[in-house]
Amino acid sequence: MSATLFSGIGELATCEPTLGDESSLGLLHDAALVAEDGRVAWVGRASDAPASDERVELGGRAVVPGFVDSHTHLVFAGERSAEFEARMAGEPYTGGGIMTTVAATRAASSGELRANAGRLLAEMHASGTTTVEIKSGYGLDVATERRILAVARELTSETTFLGAHVVPAEYANDREGYLALVTGEMLAACAPFARWIDVFCESGAFDEAESIRVLAAGVAAGLLPRVHGNQLGYGPGVQLAVEFDAASVDHCTHLSEEDLDALAYSDTVATLLPVAEFSTRSRYADARALLDAGVTVALATDCNPGSAFTTSMPFVIALAVREYRMTPAEALVAATLGGATALRRTDIGRLAPGFSADFAVLDAPSYVHLAYRPGSQVIAQTWRAGARLVAPRGEEE
Ligand code: NIG
Ligand code: FE
Repeated sequence: MSATLFSGIGELATCEPTLGDESSLGLLHDAALVAEDGRVAWVGRASDAPASDERVELGGRAVVPGFVDSHTHLVFAGERSAEFEARMAGEPYTGGGIMTTVAATRAASSGELRANAGRLLAEMHASGTTTVEIKSGYGLDVATERRILAVARELTSETTFLGAHVVPAEYANDREGYLALVTGEMLAACAPFARWIDVFCESGAFDEAESIRVLAAGVAAGLLPRVHGNQLGYGPGVQLAVEFDAASVDHCTHLSEEDLDALAYSDTVATLLPVAEFSTRSRYADARALLDAGVTVALATDCNPGSAFTTSMPFVIALAVREYRMTPAEALVAATLGGATALRRTDIGRLAPGFSADFAVLDAPSYVHLAYRPGSQVIAQTWRAGARLVAPRGEEE
């Protein structure tokens, strides 16, 4: 395959300190990047660029690694705007609306689910996302969970079985029956389509002992653990995730000192989902305490119709800067390398030789514009494995 030189990069964030200015973003100015066979072959100063077969001129724009959105619930049907409206008028978020989406999802055909998820994924690509994780969890019966994961698998290799999202209404008086299903027949039907096992460990969903059963069964079936934890209140989710050496524990809105300590001495990433907090009028996670404790932080959308209906990682970054008091650089690292670490991936999240040539071209001279221009279309182009996913604006084919 031919080599393509991307030239005229005003500012290149590599997320590899040794390639740039030694900061965590590894910034280079007046830079160029060569992609070959889908991978980054070279990055450096434009004046040192090697010869190439093709050339793409970026006119002084900034380039950042493609966003790694490591937490989404993209496959579902229906919408819950009335629930959101009620919440903005003072109703609390409890997760009780999940069953509304379950009913709509069960009633939808696989074609409808595929079309809905595909539309959201196209929005994500247009917003600079190049890798997405997708969870099940809006089926909660064997056939629908399996259908959701089959659709998700068409869209990404990062698929997660979340049959343990909540106990569905028909099992309200038989929790044990649902746990047997989710760790037995449902898991067996879904595992071939999943890489990860997840559980919503929260009061109102699954308690500690139940969550242990779900994670242990998933691990025994060959899946890797991750956890929804500490979203609605303090609880055992974080400690459980660390005990299972989970790749990530997600939400982390309510953390004790013990939770912070446990994360700091683990390989478990804390994935923060600020749009869920924004859209449920929750308090915000203490990102500074996590960063100061040396915990690896990831940022993701949590895209779902209940608590966080967004596809935009730039909006996530803007919220993280405003509400978490992360610096724009910390937020960008968390949205790229952090997400890759939360998925235990070592081939994405950086623009360094050997990494996948996944990147977003900003309609701006600096990555800071991701947070500085909230709600604006800052992403001009998205490239994955060296191929353009999204045409430059105004030049759509
Ligand atoms: O990650 N926390 C649990 N699950 C989703 C929300 C589900 C819903 O309300 O539909 C989340 O926020
Ligand atoms: Fe979630």
